[in-house]
Amino acid sequence: MVDYDPHASGYDAHSAQMPVDDVQWYVSLAQTAAEPIVELAVGTGRVAIPIARETGKRVIGIDSSAAMLAIARERIDDLPVELRQGDMLDLELEEPVDLIICPARSLMHLRTWADKRRLFERVAAALRPGGRFAWNVFAMSPAFSAENERKGEIRNVPSDNRIDILWENGVVPLWWLTRAEQEGLVEVVGLEVEALYGGFFREPYDEAAVEMVWLARKPALPAA
Ligand SMILES: C[S@@+](CC[C@H](N)C(=O)[O-])C[C@H]1O[C@@H](n2cnc3c(N)ncnc32)[C@H](O)[C@@H]1O
Repeated sequence: MVDYDPHASGYDAHSAQMPVDDVQWYVSLAQTAAEPIVELAVGTGRVAIPIARETGKRVIGIDSSAAMLAIARERIDDLPVELRQGDMLDLELEEPVDLIICPARSLMHLRTWADKRRLFERVAAALRPGGRFAWNVFAMSPAFSAENERKGEIRNVPSDNRIDILWENGVVPLWWLTRAEQEGLVEVVGLEVEALYGGFFREPYDEAAVEMVWLARKPALPAA
């Protein structure tokens, strides 16, 4: 498991460089879903807190890092956000839900196929029929990696299918996820790809895309 505790105090500064449109994208998905919304790898609440504030819906946020969750806890005020410390690979909910999200490329913290498959299996089991799983990851390419390595922001480790983000308190590894791998993960657990966009404004996923924005759906039960 990637340890985020050393990065918690600096996370806001790093996440400020992310395209903030992702927050609005996830809020818009939450607007049409029944509560509770579940965020995997909730971190400091960057996405969960605006969802709760803008929709009034209950959010369950799961994260393995005590330090990231401590920051989130300070920010919640009286918003209906429930934080749970744990491994997202152990996802298990009391009741199936309508929407599970995993923003900010957090799925890229999973290294092995077994972990990725387990995560998707847990998500599929935790969704209601018709429920959705939404996530985003970098659309990796050798050019993207080379450019960011030149800037000194990452170290490229192609032999492990990985980039290491170089933050001041240590390295954060991200393992590439290909399009076919994600389509396979969706299929093998019985979900269906609803959409793959190249950005948070539903841009097409094409050669220009630097982000893969995914929506998958659990098939609805056939009408009785
Ligand atoms: C890039 S941050 C994303 C935080 C938040 N979702 C956001 O959008 O700002 C990645 C988070 O994933 C968490 N994480 C990594 N592996 C995890 C795992 N196996 N289970 C739960 N959380 C995990 C880290 O602790 C960290 O808070």
